[in-house]
Amino acid sequence: MSHEVPHGAQPDETAPKLDFAGTTPYEDYVKADVLTHLQHPLSDDPGEMVFLVTTQVMELWFTVIVHEWETAAGALRRDDLPVAMAALKRSVRELEALNASWRPLAGLTPVQFNSYRSALGEGSGFQSAMYRRLEFLLGEKSSSTLVPHRGAPRVHGELDKALHEPGLYDEVLRLLARRGHPIPADVLERDVSAKYEPCPEVEAVWTRIYAGPQDDELVRLGEALTDVAELVWRWRNDHLSATRRAMGTRTGTGGSAGVAWLEKRATKTVFPELWTARGHV
Ligand code: HEM
Repeated sequence: MSHEVPHGAQPDETAPKLDFAGTTPYEDYVKADVLTHLQHPLSDDPGEMVFLVTTQVMELWFTVIVHEWETAAGALRRDDLPVAMAALKRSVRELEALNASWRPLAGLTPVQFNSYRSALGEGSGFQSAMYRRLEFLLGEKSSSTLVPHRGAPRVHGELDKALHEPGLYDEVLRLLARRGHPIPADVLERDVSAKYEPCPEVEAVWTRIYAGPQDDELVRLGEALTDVAELVWRWRNDHLSATRRAMGTRTGTGGSAGVAWLEKRATKTVFPELWTARGHV
């Protein structure tokens, strides 16, 4: 189809195509019109827009990262380490981008936050189902976190499925066992819907792997998982700092003690034996 050219002007052969029969192929792919009309602030405060959009942006990153970790878990199950490593490495970059998106909210003052806080009602990130799936993949399983989603069958179904599937670390430990490392049977056969608890024998396996050749693919796997663990810890701590600055010791909109509750969450170690093993290498 020819480009539309204003009367008397020379056609610019390098310009993009302008005429499409229906919606643009960009719109058909990106759904930008849908995405950019999902912002409905609940107050008149001009500062609420960036709070809402940052939260939506983080939800999108959670979605991508869950996709990467599910890809990695599936690949580990098939002993396909290159595909698992590629997904984990992508997730490391994505976690960096996720964490960078704290910047617009990192310095909120209580007066700024209070300008729209009451409009949030009982809404809280604690009710984020995609964040919960991310935590489940890290072994931070908890059936009680499904309760808020009882009224949303699709979300509840997805969470229930994720609760009962092995997490990323479960698949890592099963792969280590298949490669001859002595992972105890009760770890391999654990109830995967329960929170992962650290185990001395698993720590000893990582200690042995880490003491060996540094270019070993299992050391590289351990390091990719350590990057993930560190960046998740940073997300939790950046969230804690932003919350401390925005509301001090007030209780959370989701009904928790607020900062005191988040402090406990932020001390949780992701993939614990990958950290404790370092003291024995
Ligand atoms: C500066 C603004 C923010 C404040 C003051 C804040 C405050 C809080 C508080 C107090 C909690 C504890 C639960 C509660 O009682 O509500 C919480 C949980 C949570 N928030 Fe935020 N939050 C902020 C921004 C965000 C953003 C932008 C996200 C992105 C999605 C987010 C995601 C979460 C998640 C996932 C939890 C649950 C954490 C867990 O289960 O360990 N928060 N937040």
